[in-house]
Amino acid sequence: MIKIYCADDYKGMSRKAAEIVASEVTLKPDCVLGLPTGSTPVGMYQQLIEWNKAGDLDFSEVKTCNLDEYVGLDPTHDQSYRYFMQSNLFDHINIKPEHTHVPEGNAADPDAACKRYDDIIRDLGGIDLQVVGIGRNGHVGFNEPSTSFPADTHVVDLTEDTIDANSRLFASRDEVPKRAMTMGVRPIMQAKRVLMIVNGENKAAAVKAAFSGPITPEVPASILQLHPCLYIVGTKDAMAQLG
Ligand code: F6R
Repeated sequence: MIKIYCADDYKGMSRKAAEIVASEVTLKPDCVLGLPTGSTPVGMYQQLIEWNKAGDLDFSEVKTCNLDEYVGLDPTHDQSYRYFMQSNLFDHINIKPEHTHVPEGNAADPDAACKRYDDIIRDLGGIDLQVVGIGRNGHVGFNEPSTSFPADTHVVDLTEDTIDANSRLFASRDEVPKRAMTMGVRPIMQAKRVLMIVNGENKAAAVKAAFSGPITPEVPASILQLHPCLYIVGTKDAMAQLG
């Protein structure tokens, strides 16, 4: 089942996405949320913070697992995804710090850290609602275009396109880490529900390739066509090329 919501603008997309996350938290207060970073989810996180501050949404039993993290960045680095999650969500809601999980980007042994991360997701019983964005190249998490769909959390070499896209957030392109850890497709595909959020016309071609084309690891997000319960919430310009 794919359910598509087309919003007029970023505000509408953020609100609809927040409503879907809030429904999950309301119906299952101890749910496991899979979460993304990036520009797209910021408005959704702001809305969730607002509802939490108003006393309308309780995160005290919610658990979270983030999709990915840069290799080599300390959690205190202002471009690490742990830092992003603290400043854009976790520091402003009543979630317990020990309930939040982000891959350990600064681990001495990144491969062992990836294995530990899969164990954490498994021990939590898997993900109830996985929120994802999409890269301009069709990546999901940091599963970059490739020849296979890796199942487990793994270390990836970021593509030049992703490094370019992310360099806007660093002082210079040279400072963008070249590697990241990312969940593989197994926990994403095993999540009970997946919510993809997409904003802006620069994502329209990626959305088209992912959902109007063949399922191929060259467009990693295309595997979501096989998910039994997928919501796509996008701005109308992002969805414009969807046939
Ligand atoms: C981030 C992530 C990435 C982003 C994607 C879109 O945790 O997993 O796949 O969702 O790169 O990023 P934005 O939202 O910045 O366009």
